[in-house]
Amino acid sequence: MKYLTFALTKGRLAEKTLSMLEKLGVTCDEMKDKHSRKLIFTNEELKLKFFLAKGPDVPTYVEYGAADIGVVGKDTIIEAGRKVHEVLDLRFGKCRMCVCGYEEAAELLEHRELIRVATKYPNIAKDYFYNKRHQTVEIIKMNGSIELAPIVGLSEVIVDIVETGSTLKENGLMVLDEVCPLSARMIVNPVSMRMENDRIRELISSLRDLIREEQICV
Ligand code: PRP
Repeated sequence: MKYLTFALTKGRLAEKTLSMLEKLGVTCDEMKDKHSRKLIFTNEELKLKFFLAKGPDVPTYVEYGAADIGVVGKDTIIEAGRKVHEVLDLRFGKCRMCVCGYEEAAELLEHRELIRVATKYPNIAKDYFYNKRHQTVEIIKMNGSIELAPIVGLSEVIVDIVETGSTLKENGLMVLDEVCPLSARMIVNPVSMRMENDRIRELISSLRDLIREEQICV
């Protein structure tokens, strides 16, 4: 039997994924050692391999088949635009992609003014402003702490993830529009989906049942 390789997004998404897999009897004790410098972990019995990666790299590993399966945020999947199959909404890591700024910026949006938009997600921002709003804007790619942009005058608005909304609130900013809802998704390499169809389908269906059960319990 061939190994099925998982690329998991480092941090909370990987932790939550591993705990879901554990409930299905899929364990990888090697990964629990926080001090380990190992990069790839194996479950010999089930012929599975796992590795952790930065979010934006997960769709890349999956598109090229270096991983058969990936778990990553919907934001990263849309932004990356890779050729992968999105097969399951894991229903955790829920948040929203939003256009945010000071209250006064609402008018600039309404009048479709030529404004600056700071974001870590230029493709998502471009699609939203050009294809959905038909508004010409200047998009500025940044790498983090995006909320700083309107505060220091770099841009009028930002396109960023809002989870609890506390970063916005603490900085006097607000949601001006919602771009799309987000959550963790499972993605699969198209060739692996064909070659390992039975194993992958069984995994998806077990995870789907688990998600359904957990939602009933909430
Ligand atoms: C994310 C996002 C917002 C914040 C939203 O940033 O970019 O800044 O979380 O969360 P909240 O609505 O619960 O306040 P992250 O902490 O991932 O770091 P980054 O700013 O470097 O992207």
